[in-house]
Amino acid sequence: MVTIRPMTIQDYDEVFAMWQITTKRALSSADEKSQIERYLKRNEGLSQVAVVDGKIVGTVLAGHDGRRGFIHHMAVLPEFRRRHIGHALAEKAIEKITGEGIEKTHIFCYQNNETGQQFWKDFGFEKRDDVFVFSYQS
Ligand SMILES: CC(C)(COP(=O)(O)OP(=O)(O)OC[C@H]1O[C@@H](n2cnc3c(N)ncnc32)[C@H](O)[C@@H]1OP(=O)(O)O)[C@@H](O)C(=O)NCCC(=O)NCCS
Repeated sequence: MVTIRPMTIQDYDEVFAMWQITTKRALSSADEKSQIERYLKRNEGLSQVAVVDGKIVGTVLAGHDGRRGFIHHMAVLPEFRRRHIGHALAEKAIEKITGEGIEKTHIFCYQNNETGQQFWKDFGFEKRDDVFVFSYQS
């Protein structure tokens, strides 16, 4: 049985080990423990983990900036995929973001990540062709 529950900073080591397998290229210094701790505090109760038999098998980071919601690190361990665990995580994340009064949520997806794109389309996200992402590094 799968349980979806809020992620806490105590989950960090297990979650980070999972991300090494599932979402390595998206990791950066923003994923160090202190940064994730700050993120979870700023967005309390929004990020979720999926647990099977006491083991974390899926994650989603969910937050908002007061205006729009953002989802990061949507990931499920390979051996647990296609069982709608990802869907359940995303559903809970959106429910929590919506509960904060936020009407629209964005995700970033690599152009060559066809699985990710299919997953988000299936969920009901609309792919935008009218925007580019511009990033500034301090
Ligand atoms: C994307 C990911 C989180 C999906 O997790 P999951 O638990 O397998 O997803 P679900 O079982 O909830 O899938 C829901 C639906 O999404 C679509 N989908 C999911 N994986 C798919 C795949 N590999 N190919 C095509 N469609 C897929 C399907 O429509 C699926 O419904 P179905 O299984 O009834 O056909 C998982 O593949 C993953 O961790 N990938 C690596 C990390 C990643 O790319 N994250 C997304 C970043 S944008």
